[in-house]
Formats: sequence, C-alpha cells, structure tokens
Amino acid sequence: MGSKLVGCGSAVPKLLVSNDDLAQIVETSDEWISVRTGIHNRRVLTGNETLNGLAVDAAKGALDMAQVDADDVDLVIMCTSTPEDLFGGGARVQSDLGCKNAWAFDITAACSGFVVGLITATRFIKGGGYQNILVIGADALSRYVDWTDRGTCILFGDAAGAVLVQACSGDEDGMLGFDLHSDGQGQRHLNAIAKDEENKLTSNTNGALVFPPRKSSYSCIQMNGKEVFRFAVRCVPQSIEAALEDAGLTSSSIDWLLLHQANQRIIDAVATRLQIPSEKVVSNLANYGNTSAASIPLALDEAVRGGKVKIGDTIAAAGFGAGLTWGSTIIRW
Ligand code: ACO
Repeated sequence: MGSKLVGCGSAVPKLLVSNDDLAQIVETSDEWISVRTGIHNRRVLTGNETLNGLAVDAAKGALDMAQVDADDVDLVIMCTSTPEDLFGGGARVQSDLGCKNAWAFDITAACSGFVVGLITATRFIKGGGYQNILVIGADALSRYVDWTDRGTCILFGDAAGAVLVQACSGDEDGMLGFDLHSDGQGQRHLNAIAKDEENKLTSNTNGALVFPPRKSSYSCIQMNGKEVFRFAVRCVPQSIEAALEDAGLTSSSIDWLLLHQANQRIIDAVATRLQIPSEKVVSNLANYGNTSAASIPLALDEAVRGGKVKIGDTIAAAGFGAGLTWGSTIIRW
C-alpha cells in the first residue's frame, strides 16, 4: 500500500506586521532583519481569529483541491506546539471540519511537526484501514514571543497549512523516503518552558501543604540563534541525504527543495551543501517569517497553486527546530 498527497491548502491571519512595525518596538531595522533572515513581513493573529480557525480553513482548501468530502476523512493529525487547548486542538478541528467519521490527535514537534505528521500518516496508511488522512501544520508562536526581545520577536509569524494524504497502490506511491531525529541535549538552545516551580505544591515549616495560586503559564521563546543556525546547517543536509538514500535517489533527482522557513541564510546554506541550484528552492519566508509547523505546507500550497510544483515533481522537504528535532521526507507530488 502506498500513499500520495492529493490536495493542499493554507490560511494566514489578516494582520501584516512589517519589519518597520517591529522597529517601532525594539532596536532593530528593516535592513538588519532582511539581511540576517530574509524576512520582510509576518502575519499575526488578532481579534476573533483563532489558530483552530486557520487550521480549518487550510484543511478545507486541501479537501477542495482533492475533491474529497469531510465524511471520507479517516484521521486528522494536527501538528502544533501552540494548541488553543493544552489537551490538544486536533479533535476540535476535526469536529469543526465535520469529519464525523474520523478521529484526531495532535503531534508536538515544533518546526519539525509537519514532517513528523506526514510520515505518521503514511505509516497509518501502510498499516491498512485508512484511506484519507488530513495532516495540518498550524502554529501561533506570536503567543509565546517576547516582544521586547529583538533576537526572537522578528522571526515568527502565525499560519496554518494542510495536505490530504490518500492511500494508493504501491506503484503510485508518492512518499518515497524519510529520515527523523531528535536530540534533547539541544533543548537548552531553543525552548518555551512551563513555569513549573510556580505551580507545584510545597510544604511550610510546619509540614503543612501549601497550594499554589491558580495560575499556569509558559515562558516566552528562549533561543540561542547562533547554535540553532549551526545545528540546522549541519543536520538538515545530512537528513535530506539519508531520506534520499531511503528513497533510492540522489540530490540531482530533486525538483524542489522545500525546507522549514526559518531563515533564508539557512535555506541557502543547505541548498549549497546539497548542490541544489537556487531556482529549485521554494521560499516564501519573506512574506510570513517562521510559522513553525505551518511553514512547509504553507509554502507547498503557494508553490502548487502558483503553478511551480507540478504533478510528478519530486520534493525534498525538511523540518527542524525545538526539541531539538529534525527530519526529512521525499515526496512525489
Ligand atoms: N536587530 C538588530 N540587531 C540585532 C537583532 C535585531 N533584531 N537581533 C540581534 N541583534 C544584534 C545582537 O545583539 C548582536 O549584537 P552584538 O554583536 O553587539 O552583541 C548582533 O546583532 C549579532 O547577533 P547574532 O545573534 O549573533 O546574529 P545572527 O547573525 O546569529 O542572527 C538570528 C540572529 C537571525 C536569530 C540567527 O541566529 C538565526 O536565524 N538563527 C536560527 C534561528 C532559527 O532558525 N530558529 C528556528 C527554530 S524555530 C522553532 O523550532 C520554534
């Protein structure tokens, strides 16, 4: 049993925040941000907009393109590190989509989440009993950004992207190979840690239990940008090469390099290491910044709808980020 991508969709918030807007709140400039990252604008959730709403819109786009009814979806995999409910967002998205014959769960793997979700979907299909699986990458990192920290607040945006993965014959298999990794030792370089100490029960000097005030929260995103940069340019090319090997291909067979959109310099460095020319590199980072688990399906959707990626094209997609986590998959569109 094989699996292939038969539809994609995406959605972004209305509010556009430019580099100049950020230069009003932290000491930075459009030039610094553009040169160091390639980012010009990002979209940020405001007002009544919700991450679940973006996820639903993105998934509807994927279902429309695939011409598959919500009733025919068996599973919804919501890849997010910023769900609107601590217990997960997938079930609510499944219900809002009207996928009444499906079940849903969340995957948390930061900016690698979508790649992990895609590979998980192919495993379910290979195991049998699943025909149509929606994989949604959706994140609202703006909720965890410290808007006074110029080292991180310039990077992130909110978005959702989705694909429909469908069972097919082995001959038509569009998921050709993969490679996945994690290294918790690198967590210190990138995290948003639960404020655990504030929430724990303690005891006073008499040994009586002291219950904490009712509050819970996470710290804002903490990042050592240089270390994350080094990790990405070292590990991502190796991972893509391993996924290509798994697929029985080499980098010369790649039509499109589609990396997690974190920094244009990371994208360029990985392409150079793999000897992939810039015309084969998909990038929309300038318009949306780093949208975490949404960045790959958002860029894919734009590339497909824009006529860049065509049926039969081979795409090397790679995610990397907090955890640390990283992984790649080779897709035939
Ligand atoms: N504007 C102006 N100056 C700044 C800014 C800013 N926004 N941010 C930092 N600087 C300053 C620093 O203070 C430093 O000044 P100093 O030399 O006086 O100390 C100088 O610029 C250089 O700072 P660096 O941090 O060394 O800059 P660098 O070239 O490394 O760029 C960046 C920083 C853009 C964050 C880069 O390291 C990067 O993109 N790293 C990767 C981040 C990433 O990809 N994260 C993905 C994971 S996302 C996830 O999983 C959630």
